[in-house]
Amino acid sequence: MGKGKLSLWQEIDRVLISREEIAARLEDLAGAIASELAGGELLVIGVLKGAVIFLADLVRKLPFPVEIDFLAVSSYGKSSVSSGVVRITKDLDYDITGKRILLVEDIVDTGLTLNYLLGHLKSRQPQLLKVCVLLDKPERRKVPVQVDYVGFTIPDEFVVGYGLDYAGRYRNLPDICVLKREVYQAPRA
Ligand code: XMP
Ligand code: MG
Repeated sequence: MGKGKLSLWQEIDRVLISREEIAARLEDLAGAIASELAGGELLVIGVLKGAVIFLADLVRKLPFPVEIDFLAVSSYGKSSVSSGVVRITKDLDYDITGKRILLVEDIVDTGLTLNYLLGHLKSRQPQLLKVCVLLDKPERRKVPVQVDYVGFTIPDEFVVGYGLDYAGRYRNLPDICVLKREVYQAPRA
C-alpha cells in the first residue's frame, strides 16, 4: 500500500502482511485442510466478528461443500487486552454433536479465548474438532492451546485489518497492519 493510501488510515504504523501474502498463504492453508479433512461432512465455525473475512476467503478455496456457522464472544476488559473471562454472546445455530468441525479464529494471543471456546465446543461432543487461526502471537501465550493450522506467526504487536479491529475500526482494511503503539497504549481522554 502506498503512503498516500495509508494516510487515510491515520492510526496505522505499517503493513505487516500484505493482501498478496495473505492470498498466497490461503492457498497453502486450504490445501492442507482439504487434504486432511476431505471425505466427510464439515461444519466450519467462525468466531465473530474478527474471523469473518478470513473464513469467507478460506471456505471458497476448499474444493468440497461445507456448512458454515458462527458464534460470537466478548471478553470483558479493554479492547486490546484479553482478560480471559469470555462470554458467549451468540451461540451456534447447529447442534454439533457427532459432527466434524473446523473452528476458524482470527488470532490466538494469550490463548484464553480459544481455550475457553474449545472447552465449550468439546462439551458438545463433536466427532472431530480442528482449529485454524489466521494469526498466532506465541510470545504472549498464557495457556497452551490446540491449533492445527496457522496462517502466520507474528511478533507481539497489535494488528488490525483483514477482519481484525481496534475499537470496531479497520476490519475492512485489506492488509494486516500494525497499529501505532500510542493509539492503544495511551489512555484515551
Ligand atoms: P486471547 O488473548 O484470548 O485473544 O488469545 C484472542 C482475542 O484477542 C483479540 N486480539 C487481537 N485483536 N489485534 C486484534 O484486532 C490483535 O493484535 C489482537 N490480539 C488479540 C482478538 O479479538 C482475539 O479473538
Ligand atoms: Mg477483536
